[in-house]
Amino acid sequence: MPKRDDSYCAAGELDLTIRPLEPRDLPEMLNIELQGYSHPWSEGIFRDCFKPSYRLWGVCQGGSLVGYAVISYVLDEVHLLNLCIHPGCRGQGAGKLLLRYLLAEAARECMNQVILEVRLSNNVASKLYRNEGFEEIGRRPRYYPAASGREDARVMTLLLQP
Ligand SMILES: CC(C)(COP(=O)(O)OP(=O)(O)OC[C@H]1O[C@@H](n2cnc3c(N)ncnc32)[C@H](O)[C@@H]1OP(=O)(O)O)[C@@H](O)C(=O)NCCC(=O)NCCS
Repeated sequence: MPKRDDSYCAAGELDLTIRPLEPRDLPEMLNIELQGYSHPWSEGIFRDCFKPSYRLWGVCQGGSLVGYAVISYVLDEVHLLNLCIHPGCRGQGAGKLLLRYLLAEAARECMNQVILEVRLSNNVASKLYRNEGFEEIGRRPRYYPAASGREDARVMTLLLQP
């Protein structure tokens, strides 16, 4: 895997592709996860998601994973559990591309609604979701661990079918 630095995803050089993830992708996923979150998922949590009722999509540049999304399907509802882009590749469209892809796939699979939680302080992700049509439907108090105590989650949904 090439070493990533600030020049790794230089503007105009992006050549992004999306593919399903497999357990062999776990080391690259964990590397991104550890750099992406103050309270990252463990390898065990990721492993538990490789089941038929989940979808794991990776966004790649060349042969390297630069981000992923983890989604669970329950009846007609999709729960977006994790969406993360490598810090060196953010702000260049990879997150939006991946989100749009997973929404299109969910619609193709006849799912009706997407639900997600996002930290109140996560303005970048909240803006991304709003721009893609998600609406806030409530809050979950003290949902996330935080540096000091707990942080509320914004709950957002998107209807997929007309
Ligand atoms: C949230 C995240 C997935 C976005 O991925 P990204 O590749 O950086 O986002 P994109 O470049 O595709 O930008 C998509 C939208 O996000 C918003 N955005 C991206 N970077 C932003 C910034 N620095 N400031 C404000 N908004 C920003 C914009 O709405 C942007 O759309 P626009 O370019 O049309 O204005 C990424 O920042 C990330 O991995 N964050 C850490 C993990 C995380 O918080 N995940 C969400 C958990 S709910």
